[in-house]
Amino acid sequence: MRTFESIGIASLGLKIPSFFLDLKDFAQLRGTDPNKYTIGLSCHEMALCLDQHTVVDLALGAARRALMRWKGGLDQIGFLAIGTESALDMSAPLTKWVARELKISGALRSYEVKHACLGGTLALRQAYEWRCSPASKGKAALVIAVDDTLYEASSPGEPTQGAGAVAMIVDKPLIAEIDPCSHSWSYPADDFWRPIGEPYPHVNGPLSLECYNQGALACFQDCCDYTKQTLGGFLETIKGMSFHTPFPKMVQKALGALCDKSEISKGSADKAKNLFLEKVAPYLTWNQKIGNSMTASLWFSVAQNLCGRQIGEQISAFSYGSGCGAELQLLTAGPEARAAAWAEDLQDDFSQRTQLSGQDYDHFRRLNEVLKDGTSKTGLSKDEQKLRQAS
Ligand code: CAA
Repeated sequence: MRTFESIGIASLGLKIPSFFLDLKDFAQLRGTDPNKYTIGLSCHEMALCLDQHTVVDLALGAARRALMRWKGGLDQIGFLAIGTESALDMSAPLTKWVARELKISGALRSYEVKHACLGGTLALRQAYEWRCSPASKGKAALVIAVDDTLYEASSPGEPTQGAGAVAMIVDKPLIAEIDPCSHSWSYPADDFWRPIGEPYPHVNGPLSLECYNQGALACFQDCCDYTKQTLGGFLETIKGMSFHTPFPKMVQKALGALCDKSEISKGSADKAKNLFLEKVAPYLTWNQKIGNSMTASLWFSVAQNLCGRQIGEQISAFSYGSGCGAELQLLTAGPEARAAAWAEDLQDDFSQRTQLSGQDYDHFRRLNEVLKDGTSKTGLSKDEQKLRQAS
C-alpha cells in the first residue's frame, strides 16, 4: 500500500472586508425582532464589500498574508486554486486576476473550483492530492476560499450575508496535517442555485437545511467506519469540530442531529448542548462577526479552531455545498498552531473596520440594484464592473 508523505497546511492568511453591519441595526431597518437574528439564527454582524472592494481584493489580501509568513518563495508555488461562487467570468478563472497581482506564472496549474460552498474544500483536497503526487515535484500549492455573499433584499437569507477569504499554503504540516482520507457524500438537489446572469441565489431554505443535515450524518458515519469508532465515541474524543457555517444555529442543529443519531443524547438532552458549548461554539465567534462567507466560512472556523492547539490534537472540518455535496476531513495540529500568527491579522481587521448604519446599508442595497440593472444590460457581474471602474 502507498504510504503518504505528511502534508498539510504550512501557512494561513485571513482577510475580511472593511465594512460591517450590526444585525440589530439590520433588524430595525427590516422591522424585525432582532432576537430572530441574534438568537434564532445566532448571527451578530455581517461583513460587507463596498466601494471598489472585490473578491479579488479579499483573495489577494488573504494570499499575501499566507505568503508573507511562509518560508518558501513564489517560484516554489506550482498550483493555485480558488474555490468560490463569486466568479467574475464564465470562462476565465478568478486565479487569473489573483496570479496577475501576485506575479505568479510559469510552471503552474491555476484554476477556479465551483461547487457552491464546497468549492474551497474541493480546491484544498485537489491541492493536497496534487502535493502528495509526483506531479508536484515537491512544490507547494496555494489555495484560496473566497466569497462575497448577497441575497435579494428582504429575502430570508439576507440576515446571513457575509464576505471574506481564507488562503492556505499546502506543503509541510506546520499548522496542521491533513488526513489522507476524506469522507465525501453527494446527490443532486435543488436547494440553492444561481442561474447564469442572475445576481442573487434562489433558495429552498427548508430543503437546504435537510440536505446539510443529511450530508453531515453520512460523512460523520463514513469517518467513524474508517476510524473504527462509534459516532458517540468519535464526538467525545475529537478535540474540536468546525462546520460550514451558513448561520451558527445551523451548526448547532447539525451537531444535535449527530448526537441524536449516536448514543450521546440518550438519557440527557444536556449532553448535546454541553458538547456544542465545549467543542463547537468557541470556534464560531469569528463567523458570528463575519456572516456567511460561503466557501470561506468553514475555513474561518478551522482557523479559529487551530489557534493555540498542542501538537497532535485532532479536529474535524465538515464542508457542505448546495447542489449538493459534503466532505469531512480530519486535521491534526502541527508546531505552529500554538502561536496562531493568523489570528492577529483578523483581530486587526475586526478592530479597524467601519460600522455601517441601517441607512448606509439601505443606500448600499439601492446602489447595488442600479449595478444589478447594469449587469443585465452589460452582462458584467457587480465585481467585474467594480474592477473595470477601478482600472
Ligand atoms: N426570537 C427568537 N427566535 C426567533 C424569533 C424571535 N423573535 N423569531 C424566529 N425565531 C427563530 C425561529 O424559531 C427559528 O428557530 P428554529 O429553527 O430553531 O425554530 C429561527 O429563528 C429562524 O426562523 P425562521 O425559520 O422563521 O427563519 P426564516 O425562514 O426567515 O429563514 C432560513 C431561515 C430559511 C434558513 C434563511 O436564513 C435562509 O434562507 N438562509 C439561506 C439558506 C441557508 O443558509 N441554508 C443553510 C443550509 S444550505 C448551505 O449551507 C449553503 C449555504 O451556505 C447557503
